[in-house]
Amino acid sequence: MAFFMTASDIRQKYLDFFRGKGHAILPSAPLVPENDPTTLFTGSGMQPMVPYLLGEPHPQGARLADSQKCFRSQDIEEVGDNRHTTFFEMLGNWSLGDYFKKEQIPWMFEFLTKEIGLDPKNLYVTVFRGNPEIGIPRDDEAVSLWKEAFASAGIDAPAVDFPERDGLQGGRIFFYPETKNWWSRTGVPSTMPAGEPGGPDTEMFWDFGADRHLHETSKWKDRPCHVNCDCGRFVEIGNNVFMQYVKTTDGFAPLPKANVDFGGGLERIATAVNGDPDIFKIDLFDGAREVVEKMAGRKYGADEQDTFAFRIILDHIRAATFLIGDGVLPSNKDQGYFVRRLIRRAVRFARTLGAASIVRAASNAYVDSYADAYPDLAGKRETILSAIEAEEMKFARTIEQGLKKLQYLVDEKKRTREPQFIPNSADMTEDKAIEYMQKHSEFGHNSISGRDAFDLYQSYGFPVELIREELDKMHFVFNEYEFENAFEEAKRQHQELSRAGSEQKFAGGLADHSAQTTRLHTATHLLHQALRTVLGPHVEQKGSNITPERLRFDFSHGKKMTPEEITRVEGIVNEAIANDFPVSFEVMSVADAKAQGAIGLFEDKYAAVGGQVKVYTVGDPHGPFFSKEVCGGPHVTHTGELGRFKILKEEASSAGVRRIKGTVTGESRS
Ligand code: ALA
Repeated sequence: MAFFMTASDIRQKYLDFFRGKGHAILPSAPLVPENDPTTLFTGSGMQPMVPYLLGEPHPQGARLADSQKCFRSQDIEEVGDNRHTTFFEMLGNWSLGDYFKKEQIPWMFEFLTKEIGLDPKNLYVTVFRGNPEIGIPRDDEAVSLWKEAFASAGIDAPAVDFPERDGLQGGRIFFYPETKNWWSRTGVPSTMPAGEPGGPDTEMFWDFGADRHLHETSKWKDRPCHVNCDCGRFVEIGNNVFMQYVKTTDGFAPLPKANVDFGGGLERIATAVNGDPDIFKIDLFDGAREVVEKMAGRKYGADEQDTFAFRIILDHIRAATFLIGDGVLPSNKDQGYFVRRLIRRAVRFARTLGAASIVRAASNAYVDSYADAYPDLAGKRETILSAIEAEEMKFARTIEQGLKKLQYLVDEKKRTREPQFIPNSADMTEDKAIEYMQKHSEFGHNSISGRDAFDLYQSYGFPVELIREELDKMHFVFNEYEFENAFEEAKRQHQELSRAGSEQKFAGGLADHSAQTTRLHTATHLLHQALRTVLGPHVEQKGSNITPERLRFDFSHGKKMTPEEITRVEGIVNEAIANDFPVSFEVMSVADAKAQGAIGLFEDKYAAVGGQVKVYTVGDPHGPFFSKEVCGGPHVTHTGELGRFKILKEEASSAGVRRIKGTVTGESRS
């Protein structure tokens, strides 16, 4: 190890390094994207940058960097090994049509080897092999830039092809196909919808040592090792995407400007600096890990089974802490569902460690560990801790009810069980015999039905292991075969549902409906202004969420709106639409924006950046206007494009905050 460095040091060094290279440092966007119906969570640093990568100017300029909070719900089941987490921080830097490969590659090499002291001998990189079918060539420019960078450290860097077939071959630079070295939000070129940006990338890997591949227990030891092999020897620590293409209906077109989109997992980089591939050993987990160790009376790493549980607890509570910090409370719907699942899973695994009531203390430790980098988390400490604790208690009640139900099922079975009848097997076909065995002999006398067990699992959220344990105490089992069938069936249904859901979500944001989302976004500005006109200037935006079907706007107001107020608000918005006002933006200082009477979320998102903000005006930007609001866009160009506005619902959101759902319908005028 070069020298000791915490993850916070690495984060700071990264941001300082790119500030030094002329980048504006942005605060992390929230984990729940605003005005982006394509996805439930922010899962990469580039997500909030999409409009700018597509060509809109960014108010902070063409060089940007940040450390973005990310959550990947699809990784919940992956957690348990030494490198998967659902929540992570992604260090990012972007060139919006400014610098390109010949800056990015040497900078990355400098940052990794000089700033944070990683030994270049353990660094390996991958490059896009090219694909003539989509007309995108092999990235030879990246290869020569990497060769130069390694040469500056006295390292010869041969580039070799087909590592996935032939292994490392003494190479330092490896060509891979688009399954590995192409990046877009939706994966490889063929799965990208029209309008989606993407491009070839070059990734950096850290070598934790060949013994991981060759170890006698390694299931990879007889296959060729290469950097994208999953043996754990190599860990990806960063990805430089050369985002220069946009998918069209019949191929790819160049974006107006070629961009750089770099993303590197802070925690993974920290493991490389630590010289230990276990993410859960980096300092950001220290506080929470110690809490769990103390409450469980067990040491992290001492036992394999325990380690698995530790990792799930550590990951899930951290993710829940950040998600609640960004306003997502546990529930049965949308984002809230995942917070509920995270907390309950953590509680379950805490139970296997013999630790009760663990979540509050562990979450508290995280708020401390992140207090410097995320002071707003500390500001919301009590909200977070009480929400997490309340969910744990709710889960405890669920379990209690589940236990009662289980007891009932067992009692019922004892009461009604019949003497066992063993039929003459000669009377049975083989299939029948197997079915009979599964039903009776194995799970006969002292068993409850797998269906009942499954219902308990599904409707009470009662963990299967717990059902097993509890039944075992009563010398009972359940029919695992029936359970498995019920489980598979439910899983299939769930997958179909979520597949339908995500198709809808993607169609929503990216393809045919994106114009509708933009319309609803502009309608939100009109609504905001109309509410202030009707209810008064105390009305401020408290939240906004847009799907292709509707807008949702939360605002400060102490009481229910009257039907007359609702009608007036609708009337004002529709009048603004009928006036077909132009919509335009200007970039200006916060002071100018305020002086011009712009409303909006200055403090939250923009003021922290200092400097410039983007201000959208509906009406004349230099004369009388209908509304002026700080906002990132996008918007329609004329309000006449909106069609007719309607308020669907007005309801309470939380104390002192009302929520309106509304939509625009019918034909637009332009
Ligand atoms: N957007 C790229 C990623 O998430 C950097 O890997």
